[in-house]
Amino acid sequence: MHDPARRHPRLLLAPMEGLLDARLRAVLTGVAAYDWCVTEFVRVTQEVLPRRSFLRLAPELATDSRTASGVPVRVQLLGSDPERMAANAARLLALAPAGVDLNFGCPAPQVNRHRGGAVLLDEPELIYAVTAAVGDAVRGRTRFSAKMRLGVRDPSRAIEAAQAIEAGGAELIVVHARTRDQRYRPPAHWTWIARIAEAVTIPVVANGEIWTVEDYLRCRAESGRGDVMLGRGAVADPFLVERIRARLDGTPARTYADDWPRLVPMLDAYWRHVTRELAPRHAPGRLKQWLHLLQQHYPQAARLFEDVRELRDPGAIGACLANR
Ligand SMILES: Cc1cc2nc3c(=O)[nH]c(=O)nc-3n(C[C@H](O)[C@H](O)[C@H](O)COP(=O)(O)O)c2cc1C
Repeated sequence: MHDPARRHPRLLLAPMEGLLDARLRAVLTGVAAYDWCVTEFVRVTQEVLPRRSFLRLAPELATDSRTASGVPVRVQLLGSDPERMAANAARLLALAPAGVDLNFGCPAPQVNRHRGGAVLLDEPELIYAVTAAVGDAVRGRTRFSAKMRLGVRDPSRAIEAAQAIEAGGAELIVVHARTRDQRYRPPAHWTWIARIAEAVTIPVVANGEIWTVEDYLRCRAESGRGDVMLGRGAVADPFLVERIRARLDGTPARTYADDWPRLVPMLDAYWRHVTRELAPRHAPGRLKQWLHLLQQHYPQAARLFEDVRELRDPGAIGACLANR
């Protein structure tokens, strides 16, 4: 049940496939006190996946399902076959995840074509069946949540979908306040989150388009939720959680200019991780993605992005980072 008297809102780090992997989670959770993170989705198709499939997207499973700074990591599953989802959840449980999360929000055509992600929002009965099957496998053994969008084309079945998730046994729902067809286009329709929250008894967490403290406060006013999940905004400003908590506690705000010196060692650490763990052709793209988002708030990141934009050689990129 949502408790409006909770003094400290839940602040969660969103799953973002291809962007927010374990390396970036480690860096971001090193400076921000998230309540928990969710991994990129693990796609369940045919068989029961081997351990390594879970460990590849959630290497934190090897360290008590926590990031290096101790933030719990829930593993997200995506699929539509209740039995296979339950069998995979059972396999995952053997790795002791901090939680299992279900994906009812992915808009990617290749995923939706195979009846996965947001397309299920047209079939609340199937959402119920998947949630109930996974719920039976995990209930009482780990935390269990789900993440949904408002619908496929329109939000007319959003409440049914949320109620199906609750009836299936999930303990909490994150609502990304857009339909599948709205993809990632602003705005997010936060007032819909309030409507959904009125129709279920489990906690509802708001998500979508929170880039600044002011966005957080507007989202809270429109959705009635203090609990939020941060996605791109958390990557664009790794100190957003700190800024939100400071505003809520009434402590003075730091400026982006104040925070750039704290970001520099984080960029260095991230670059060390990606160059150590990824093929040389993949490492530069990862850093560029992050700089691209950071440049919204940090002019120094914009300059660095321009410097590395055309570079492919990790050595040359490392030199730019060192000389910044
Ligand atoms: C590149 C990218 C990948 C994403 N991958 C996932 C995913 O694997 N699972 C999921 O539930 N949501 C995924 N999302 C959606 C985000 O978790 C979040 O709901 C969305 O970005 C809206 O929040 P934001 O406006 O704060 O970014 C992804 C979003 C982006 C931009």
